[in-house]
Amino acid sequence: MLEKPRILAFAGSLRSGSWNKLLSKIGAQAARDAGAEVTWVDLRDYPLPVFDEDEESASGLPENARKLKELFVSHEGLFISTPEYNSSIPGGLKNVIDWVSRREGEAEPPKVAFQGKVAALVSASPSGFGGMRSLRHLRTILGSMGVFLLPDEISISSAHSAFNAEGQLADGRKQQQVGDLARLLVEVTRKLG
Ligand code: FNR
Repeated sequence: MLEKPRILAFAGSLRSGSWNKLLSKIGAQAARDAGAEVTWVDLRDYPLPVFDEDEESASGLPENARKLKELFVSHEGLFISTPEYNSSIPGGLKNVIDWVSRREGEAEPPKVAFQGKVAALVSASPSGFGGMRSLRHLRTILGSMGVFLLPDEISISSAHSAFNAEGQLADGRKQQQVGDLARLLVEVTRKLG
């Protein structure tokens, strides 16, 4: 039982005006209010080359991949908000997952950045479905890497008009749902982490 679980929160979008960055910040704040130690990161601050096994063999993990991997390793829970690109997750997010998933040396347990973590997934999109198809794929990817995924998930549709000037969800019920999911993440991470 962890007294103060550590939650890593981020969006799968690099875009400066990203709706998913706003949504991940709402989850991060709710998790913090629920007693977690939360680190929110912007993936734009960790630019990475497209994963190339030759490059990995020649030079190992790029510095930003190592930094992100350390962040994953040092947190027990993940709050991820992702856009949907062409019915799936953005290539940039998959690229981060691929780099971070790499094992460095025999002494390191496999999938150390993901194994046994707890994750809550949400999405936002200007479309009517809120990017929900991306969550099917993200769930499959993370599940195969040993992440415990909370069954509930939230997709915010019409994202371009869903947030107020303070970056909160204008629909109080939706704001409450995102908060509830973040609080559940803290509770389950506390028990499993
Ligand atoms: C999109 N977008 C999109 N939206 C959606 O609901 N389903 C989709 O399949 C796609 N496909 C897609 C592909 C590509 C290459 C781009 C750039 C965009 C629109 C997308 O939801 C919109 O740009 C969001 O605002 C992106 O999320 P952020 O950056 O606001 O978090």
